[in-house]
This record gives sequence, C-alpha cells and structure tokens, in this order.
Amino acid sequence: MRPHPRIPDPSVFVIFGGTGDLARRKLLPALARLARAGRLAPESRVLAVAIDPLDDEGFRALARTALVAAGVPEPDCSPLLERLHYQPLRPPGPIADTTSAGAADYQALAQRIARLEAAHGLPGNRSFYLALPPQAFVGTIDGLGGAGLNKSAGWTRVVVEKPFGHDLASATALNRVVHAWYDESQIYRIDHYLGKDTVQNILVLRFANTIFESVWNRDRVEAVQITVAEDLGVGTRAGYYDRSGALRDMVQNHLVQLLSLVAMEVPSAYEADAIRYEKIKVLRSLRRLDLGDVVYGQYAAGTARGEDVPGYLDEPQIPPGSTTETFVAMKVFVDNWRWSGVPFYLRTGKRMGKTLSQIAVRLRNTPSALFDSYDEPRETADVLLVTLQPDPGFSLHFDVKVPGAEFRMVRIPLGFRYRELFDEVPEAYETLLLDVMLGDQTLFVHADEVDHAWRHFSELLAHPPAPVPYAAGSWGPREADHLAIPETELWRESYLNHDRRAP
Ligand code: BG6
Repeated sequence: MRPHPRIPDPSVFVIFGGTGDLARRKLLPALARLARAGRLAPESRVLAVAIDPLDDEGFRALARTALVAAGVPEPDCSPLLERLHYQPLRPPGPIADTTSAGAADYQALAQRIARLEAAHGLPGNRSFYLALPPQAFVGTIDGLGGAGLNKSAGWTRVVVEKPFGHDLASATALNRVVHAWYDESQIYRIDHYLGKDTVQNILVLRFANTIFESVWNRDRVEAVQITVAEDLGVGTRAGYYDRSGALRDMVQNHLVQLLSLVAMEVPSAYEADAIRYEKIKVLRSLRRLDLGDVVYGQYAAGTARGEDVPGYLDEPQIPPGSTTETFVAMKVFVDNWRWSGVPFYLRTGKRMGKTLSQIAVRLRNTPSALFDSYDEPRETADVLLVTLQPDPGFSLHFDVKVPGAEFRMVRIPLGFRYRELFDEVPEAYETLLLDVMLGDQTLFVHADEVDHAWRHFSELLAHPPAPVPYAAGSWGPREADHLAIPETELWRESYLNHDRRAP
C-alpha cells in the first residue's frame, strides 16, 4: 500500500468542528506531527471551521494550547501553526435552502477556500473532515454540496467520523445524502481502529507468514475471542454515550472490523477494493445473531484504577433509570467454508478490570492427551495472542518441559513487543489523515460494510436485552462467562478463568 514515504499533493484540509474535542485531542496533534515530519506539502493549508467567533490568530492560540496539552513539543508546533486558518460558520440552516443563513455561510466558506488557494498557489485539492456530532452530518454535507464544495479543479474528499448512523435505516439515509453529492471514491468513513498499526499488522501476520495462515481455519482453530476492554467510564461524553451504548459505540464498528480482518480470505491485492471486498464477504457470512447469545451489562459502583468510582447511573448527566448498555458480550459464527462451527466471542465494556484490547486465537488441543497424567491441570491448547493495547505485541504460547527429573511442563510465550522493537508507532489518526490526503481508501470503511454491520444487529437493536449490573473494575456480568462454555473456551479474563494459569 505505502511502499515509500509519500508526500500528498498540496491541498486545503478543512476541519468542521475545528475547536471541538476530537480536533484538539487527535486531529490537530496528528497534523502537527505530519507537518513536523515534512509530510505536508509546504503550500498546504489547514482551515478550521466552527461556530466560535474567532479569527486566524485566535484559533492559532487555541491550537497551540491544544497541541502542547496533547504532548506535541512546543518547537514542533510551528510547522502546523503557520498553516492554520479559521472560518466561523453558523450551524446549518434548512437543507440546501439558498436563502438561509447556513447557505450564506457555506458560500462564504467556499470563497474563503478559493482565496486561500489563490494566495498559496494551490491546485484546488480539498479534504473536508466532519469532526462533528452525528446529528450535524446531514446538514453539513448538504451545506457543502449546496455551495458547490463537492467538486473542484483538483480532488475533493469528505471524511466522516463514526458513528455512521445509529441503525440500518439512519445509515442508509445518511449514505443516500452523502451519495447525492459525492461518489464512493470521494468518501472516507473513519474507523480509527483501522489506522492502528497493530490492527494493520493482523493482515501482515496472516498473509506474510505461511505458518499462521496454514492453521487459520476450522480444522486447527477451536475458538476466537476478541476483547476490547476499557477501565475508563463514560467520562464527559454522557450526552453522546447514553444515546449510543456499547453496541453502537464499539461493537458495530471497531469489533466488527477486527472480526472481519481476523476472518477474511486472502485479498487478491493489498488494495482498498480487494480488501473491502473480502471484509464484506465475512459480514455477509455472519450467521443470524441468536439473541440468547448476547449479554448486555451496565457498570455499577466499584473500584477502578485504584479508586472508588460511581456506577453508570450516578455519572453526571445520565438520565435516571437509563438502560444503556456499557458492556456487550456475544457469540457469533461466520458460516463459510473456513470458519464453519468456530465460535467468535466478542466482548467490550467500559469500567472493566483493565484496559486490554486483544485477539486470542485458540488452537485445538492435540488429539491425544499424552501428557495429561504427568502434569497438573492447566490450560492445554496453544494460544495465539494479538495484543493491540496496552502493551501491543504478539505471542504464541506453547508447552515445554521444565528440565529436571520430575515431569513438569510450562507454558512459554514466543513473540514480540512493539515497544522493544520499534522506536515509534504512529497514532492512528496520523496514518488516516495522511491516507485521506494521499487518496488511499484501504483503511476506510465502505458503504456496504456499514450497511451489513448495521443489518446484522438490527434485530438486537430492536429487542435489546436488559443490561445486567456489574461492578466497576470487574470483567463484566457473570452471565457473560456462560456464553463462553465449554470450559476450554472460557474468556481469558473473567470470573471463572480468574485463577487459571492463563499465559
Ligand atoms: C471510540 C469510542 O470510538 O473508541 C470510545 O467512541 C472508546 O468510547 C474509543 O473509548 C476507544 O478507542 P481506543 O483507541 O482508545 O481503543
């Protein structure tokens, strides 16, 4: 995909929601690192758009504070700060109404972009990044299209943050609006998990090493567990999160993407279309979800990160009696030739025992239990762990005999840790923003993927189970343990598995 470092064409990078949380914490720092590394063409400009009454200087001051807070060293801020501009814009008015204040603002934005391009000799390449609350997507896209900002003398790309819709119907409606103005090759739907190097490494691990691909099937794999656990609670995002919940916030996008990458077939090329095609095939092969194989949870008061923390219902701005799930565990099956009969366990939650994102591929036991009578009871199957965070790496756990007269075996990991091998791992957003400017859609989500992912969960969204309380700092409701039965399939981190000598 990216054989050599490439510098994108000179362009204007427009950030809607330029003063917001995502821009301050992720987008501006990522752009600053790219600018510092010489990965932005010298003429390129970044234009932040938001409702705050600021000018260029005011925004640069805000950006400088945000960059330093995000850990960008002060001297490294300048290459971005000198490229920054700001354009105020009121919230969009009625859709494509040319007489509304919103439409006038979009015309002003179009003129501002044209002036920047003329002043800096830019060829008309434009990215529009919608770092906005989901309810603002439709109005903004219509505003852009209505002002003619869907095409230009160069390329025009629009980047849409997740969540892409809140169910199948709304995602379809949103896709319709986006497609009314932009074609699929111009649309970059973000799932920041795809920008993580550790996630991209799943395909390298599988397809660059015959040893793994040769065992990657129902004959050798007994079960796959995908866990994305966070020890943080809902934080300051109550307004968004309570309407979303863990299924929409994490499962429909991040976990489904991880599942697709673990389960997909070898693509015909390492290219956007070929990879997306194979991922869509996985989603099409998902067996209809058995609602009995889903457990929802909601965190209650407990201890997390060494402190007493409130339950979800006592978090600021959570409505009394909310039934929003902060934990989801489910068993799914990919009904195709490769994976028939192999359970995939997906699990995610807030305020869990620790922050851990991990894929555990559990290989089948040896056909005869040759050494069982010699050894104490322990986990016997080989396990391949791909850890995305907090300590990214990979390990394969297998048995060796402990030297000595007594017959004992021990489980040894074979693997690598990113932090021991590589100096620097770029932030997901750095990779993704660069890819937008380079026009590489490999790490972005196609309309059909969004569609299939929502479709798979439609019934569950219509009939959500009541969330079972779990103590903050635990591994979710005990009910979730019973999904992963028989015992050989137990969650790696769970109540039942707690005392086992898992590697
Ligand atoms: C976001 C979710 O998409 O991903 C958050 O909205 C979640 O709720 C975050 O905390 C997790 O991302 P990461 O990269 O920290 O695993």
